[in-house]
Amino acid sequence: MLIKKPADIRPSEITSKENYLNRRQFIRAGSIAGAALVSGSAIGAVVPEGGRAKLPDVGKSEFSTAEAPNSYEDITTYNNYYEFGTGKEDPHKYAQDFEPRPWSITVDGHAEKTGTFDFDDFIKPFDLEERIYRMRCVEAWSMVIPWVGISLADVVKHYQPTSKAKYVAFETLHDPKRMFGQRRPVLDWPYKEGLTIAEATNPLTILAVGVYGESMPAQNGAPIRLVVPWKYGFKGIKGIVRISFTEKQPPVSWNISAPHEYGFYANVNPEVDHPRWSQATERRIGGGLFAPRIPTQMFNGYGEQVAHLYDGLDLRKNY
Ligand code: MTE
Repeated sequence: MLIKKPADIRPSEITSKENYLNRRQFIRAGSIAGAALVSGSAIGAVVPEGGRAKLPDVGKSEFSTAEAPNSYEDITTYNNYYEFGTGKEDPHKYAQDFEPRPWSITVDGHAEKTGTFDFDDFIKPFDLEERIYRMRCVEAWSMVIPWVGISLADVVKHYQPTSKAKYVAFETLHDPKRMFGQRRPVLDWPYKEGLTIAEATNPLTILAVGVYGESMPAQNGAPIRLVVPWKYGFKGIKGIVRISFTEKQPPVSWNISAPHEYGFYANVNPEVDHPRWSQATERRIGGGLFAPRIPTQMFNGYGEQVAHLYDGLDLRKNY
């Protein structure tokens, strides 16, 4: 977000295009066969393996915005994912060879049900839904993204947190062999995020597994990432491998990295400037260089659904 691009990446860190294409074709063939078997079977969420595979049985959501979504290209080529470089175009360039399988997710902490689950088993109990959300980055740009995901409230309910669970913490995969950005100490790896239980169970919060009706591109956080549309984009942790129910507020990556700039809450708030720039307006990606800036809305326009979560909290202090 704020850190300079590291020194050049060695060619040995990047798979040749030929290798990459071969591998992708192989995975694609497998996933289409798999999807054909399960499509329409109504047995819960199913995400085929590999690149641009169509997701079966995706419902619609009352929470989608009617605004026009950004193009697939905008959404998948202008990214932040420090595990794959610190430049906006790096994740698209360098995450292409990343294979988000096999993948397991550990659920631990204060819950009745805990354990380590294979990704497919993890998502199976839940329904897939398209959520077209406005997304606002702390760097003052925005996009409209048609995510496909499962409700985090449903996930939380499934694991039955105990009364001690006040927060939900998330962690990204830590594997410097597969994520070359983790070989440099640009952040305190693994990437970490957290929400209060109330934020995690708000109906708007989802774990996204796809975009534009297809499985999640690697650069956007395959196979599963958090999406919280009323918070700055950095809350949307990618490549999740651990979900923990905690009693104490969990440490979160950008707060650890720059505590005077990034707090735990990170609600979109045009009235609280970043110490180095205004948050009053935003630039919609894809609008062209001369498009007028858009006024930023409190809670990114989702105030009706979420403002009550912060009743009595001073949002200038709790930024
Ligand atoms: N998750 C991980 N693991 N690593 C990251 O560097 N960057 C965050 C967030 N999630 C990041 C991450 C930031 S700063 C932003 S703005 C969003 O991902 C960007 O999501 P997008 O690229 O899908 O738009």
